[in-house]
Amino acid sequence: MRGAPAVSLVGGTGMSALTVDYRNLLAIDEDEDGVDPERLDGDLGSRFRVAHRNVERARRSGSMGFLDLPGATEAPARIRRAAAGLHGRFDDFVVLGIGGSALGTRTLRDALGAGDPTFGARDAGGPHPRLHVADNIDPHSIGTLLDRLDMRRTFFNVVSKSGSTTETLAQYLVVAERLAREVGRDRAREHLLFTTDPERGPLRALAEAAGIPTLPVPGNVGGRFSVLSAVGLFPAAAAGLDVTAVLRGAARMERRCRTDELTRNPAGVVATLLYRADVECGQRVHVFMPYCDRLRSFALWVQQLWGESLGKAAGLGGRPAATGPTPLPAAGATDQHSLLQLFMEGPADKVVCFVTVDAADDPVPIGKAPASLPALEFPEGHTLNHLIAIEHAATAAALRTRSRPNLTVRLARLDAEALGELILLFQAATVYAGFLYGVDPLTQPGVELGKRYVHGLLGRPGYHPPGMEEANHPWQV
Ligand code: PA5
Repeated sequence: MRGAPAVSLVGGTGMSALTVDYRNLLAIDEDEDGVDPERLDGDLGSRFRVAHRNVERARRSGSMGFLDLPGATEAPARIRRAAAGLHGRFDDFVVLGIGGSALGTRTLRDALGAGDPTFGARDAGGPHPRLHVADNIDPHSIGTLLDRLDMRRTFFNVVSKSGSTTETLAQYLVVAERLAREVGRDRAREHLLFTTDPERGPLRALAEAAGIPTLPVPGNVGGRFSVLSAVGLFPAAAAGLDVTAVLRGAARMERRCRTDELTRNPAGVVATLLYRADVECGQRVHVFMPYCDRLRSFALWVQQLWGESLGKAAGLGGRPAATGPTPLPAAGATDQHSLLQLFMEGPADKVVCFVTVDAADDPVPIGKAPASLPALEFPEGHTLNHLIAIEHAATAAALRTRSRPNLTVRLARLDAEALGELILLFQAATVYAGFLYGVDPLTQPGVELGKRYVHGLLGRPGYHPPGMEEANHPWQV
């Protein structure tokens, strides 16, 4: 055992539900792989302190708006009022949006509504509509969704920060046609609300011209950092989720992240150790693996947050960067029978971030196995809750013995407050990681270029980037 204290937990403080356990990334014994714990107060601690200082500086200059969302009061009140105004009038609430304008809402819905698409309906005769997130333009998905809905009882929330994303505008135009046909052009606006930039963009202009109500996405909050703004909170509130508790949890995590002391800052630990695994050990595939079906959408949200924020060709100050770990969502225990073989024995280029929930509530007992099935002889009294917990513990330990590093973000429970903590944890970790890698985590020039190509292919004047000329080139088979 090394002389340094085996600090490996950033525990929940006070009411916090969240603990980060990073023991499986440390080399506490001399013969273990991993980070010498002394480095947490040494060079890694110093590096994190610089990243933290940069984030705080950016925050003071106004560019880290997402960190201020949990403490806001006026905007959430307005959002709750807008949501309350829909009560009882609609059976279905559909979000039209893509990327950061959809994944966070899906996360809130699935984590807190048990992934049940009929969540709202459980409130017998209740006022809360079912929440759908149409985050693609697949004609089959959109077509079948719209065919199932009664347009007279359906509300559409068009979400786009820029107000110009082709997929979202196309979704809206499909819906606008149907609304005009089925409820009439004059009444269509009663079924619509646009969530978009407070001042700019085609969607805002359209709302103003057509008298469609709007909610703002603060100018200093970008798509993938916007779930705690009207982007995620309005649909969540309309579906009856406790957005006040989500914000309370996020505010708690924001406070926990104010310290620049690495071993006390949970987001700092996640960012610094994943960054270090990448740049020092070539572990550039970052696996996000919840052991909780309600967090599957959360893993997709983190994938976008981590990937789009850190994958950059240019670093801060214009230096070439070409950085970016590859985020890979996975699901425990399901993927123990799929990806785990690769994680365990494939290239040693991965680090796994587990998320677990100590789900003591609603135990699901495992029945007694018949004597003819000795392989299923669980000791009596076991539950699925206990089984999924030990599956995680076993996987983490087995990976560790193969020198496959991992850490675990542990939630004492999964409720609105805990989810708020989890969301803010990963948002803060992402911006810390951005500064550790030396890139601006808030931009997405590659996505913007893709958007320009789409506009070009749709024939929009002035949008004709190179490489699109030869639709019938010979190099296809
Ligand atoms: O995080 C981002 O900025 C992107 O993923 C956007 O959310 C996505 O491209 C959609 O953009 P918009 O909200 O402007 O429609």
